[in-house]
Amino acid sequence: MLGPFYRQDSPLRELGESIAAEAGGPEICIYGRVLNSSGRGIPNASVQIWQSDDHGVYDLQKHDPSVMDMRGTFHADSQGRYHLRTVRPLGYLIPMDGPVGDMIRAQHRHGYRPAHIHFLIGAPAHRELVTALYLRNDDHIDSDTVFGVTESLVTETRLNDPSSPLPNLPSIRFDFTLGAAAAAEASGRVGADPSQITKRPALASH
Ligand SMILES: [Fe+2]
Repeated sequence: MLGPFYRQDSPLRELGESIAAEAGGPEICIYGRVLNSSGRGIPNASVQIWQSDDHGVYDLQKHDPSVMDMRGTFHADSQGRYHLRTVRPLGYLIPMDGPVGDMIRAQHRHGYRPAHIHFLIGAPAHRELVTALYLRNDDHIDSDTVFGVTESLVTETRLNDPSSPLPNLPSIRFDFTLGAAAAAEASGRVGADPSQITKRPALASH
């Protein structure tokens, strides 16, 4: 799911930099590789990441749209490796004041999403991958209100991980695999940057 909080043109960052400029909270490291279907690293693959902060809030929900925080664009190294710093996100309650809220209440469900980190991974000649990683130690990990969780995407930070490029930080390792793109294949991405949506001009009346 691309979700409603993706934004185009997030800040370009060097490997190892933090995406949390404004947000606080316990810092973590996320690292791994972007691989092709043969298991080889894809040099310079782009890794876009966005997430809520340690209070479960996205930048667009607390800042003016000119502020981009808790998001960034990285490029993997020559062997497809990436690593970055962020803060541990918190899950959140989706908006419950419209028909979606009515539907969830009618089903006697809660409206929470477990803590997660969104990714959009891409490289030339490969299919774009939109996914998210979920944190296991969350009360709602087994009952995500939008059914996004799948076991293969559930991770947790590890302390003193000797493979981590930043072993002093709790670290998540995750390798992403991109499929090859068919010729002239569209990205298949669904969704839009909400800050780019502008009001349509009113229709001329006759
Ligand atoms: Fe989200």
